[in-house]
Amino acid sequence: MNARPPFLTYDATRMHVRAADLRALRAPLTRAHTRIESLRAGGEHGFFDLPFETDSVRIVKETAAKARKRFRRMIVIGIGGSDLGARTLWQSLAHSDKGMALGFLGNPDPELLAAYTSGNKLWWKETAVCVVSKSGSTLETMSMFFAVREALIRNVGLKQHVGHVYVITDPNHNALHKLADDAGYSLIPHPLNVGGRFSVLSTVGLFPAACAGIDIDDLLEGARWMENQRRKQKAASLPAQFAAMHYIAYKKGKRMHVLMPYAASLSELAFWYRQLWAESLGKQKGKEHVGPTPIAAFGAADQHSQIQLYNEGPNDKVVTFLRVDHFTTHPKVPRLGKGMESYQYMSGMTFEQIMHAELEGTSKALYEAERSNGTLNIPAITPQSIGAVLMFYELATAYMAELMGVDAYNQPGVEAGKKIAKEILTAS
Ligand code: PA5
Repeated sequence: MNARPPFLTYDATRMHVRAADLRALRAPLTRAHTRIESLRAGGEHGFFDLPFETDSVRIVKETAAKARKRFRRMIVIGIGGSDLGARTLWQSLAHSDKGMALGFLGNPDPELLAAYTSGNKLWWKETAVCVVSKSGSTLETMSMFFAVREALIRNVGLKQHVGHVYVITDPNHNALHKLADDAGYSLIPHPLNVGGRFSVLSTVGLFPAACAGIDIDDLLEGARWMENQRRKQKAASLPAQFAAMHYIAYKKGKRMHVLMPYAASLSELAFWYRQLWAESLGKQKGKEHVGPTPIAAFGAADQHSQIQLYNEGPNDKVVTFLRVDHFTTHPKVPRLGKGMESYQYMSGMTFEQIMHAELEGTSKALYEAERSNGTLNIPAITPQSIGAVLMFYELATAYMAELMGVDAYNQPGVEAGKKIAKEILTAS
């Protein structure tokens, strides 16, 4: 489906945000915008400019086209920001007839690893491996890569295995870059000024996506549309306004921020959002500990799991629904005849109608219970709309961080646990 702008709209009428609160935030939001623009112009954080990239996109396309000719599938190895974005693109946009099948090793789980290393020689002959790590030092990623590489070598041979491996890492010399250089693996640079959780529209997400046959030009078109809208409308843009409303809600004690897409193929998107919002906004500010808790949910299934809590539990949440206006297929409930009176209300309905009615029902019920909720609408699940949603959330995160006075781009709190795990392994 060839989507046209707008690729994304936001309905905030049920957010329970007072106009006076928004007015009071106008000056801080304008300052946030100015600061974001100076971060962007200074090149400090490169994710704003990714939708306008040409060189790295060309490299991605050329490399992916060759890989698609040679391999049937690819194992993508990475964790956190080096995993969740590509996974989201694969789940929402890939169609099996268009490109390689992707499998993800995003957790050093022994059984998952065994499943990915048990193929026979023919399977391995047709399998590429893509290891993604900006730092090149992440325990989970590197340990999984070494195990997969060993299986690959065992099955295709030491010399042949080289052509199967793609490495996405920091182009400055880190240990993985050196390893790739020494072995002769295909190296695709991870942009230096883009952190993992903001990297989905860089080589990190684009290379696996292009291998899977996803139209990355369309994806970037959607992201570009969003970023252009932000640059033009400044503090009045959708991401800035979304951040402002969430900040107001946060200040009023609504500190659980839910993303609930009503589409099974967007469940990974909610997990991608969860990392972005949590790792970027949960910070220590002097003696204060701040940050909203993001929650991934998906409709309509989670109506039978979470909504009771959202509706009657503590009023500490903001729910964002993600509504797909048009699905690609329109199966219907069959016409139900005599003796089926209790089911007449669903007779002949399309499942799209059912999804829309469920979302509307949930949103209205929450609103009536004074629970803040808003709805992001996308016309369809197309690369353009997904590109717009991804860019939208990255930008909203940047505004939210500025309003909260935290650095969205670091993650010192992740380091402590990593250090202890390394010490345990070193002592074993
Ligand atoms: O968002 C982030 O920066 C992190 O989640 C990283 O992506 C994650 O820790 C993996 O890091 P690396 O790509 O260096 O292996």
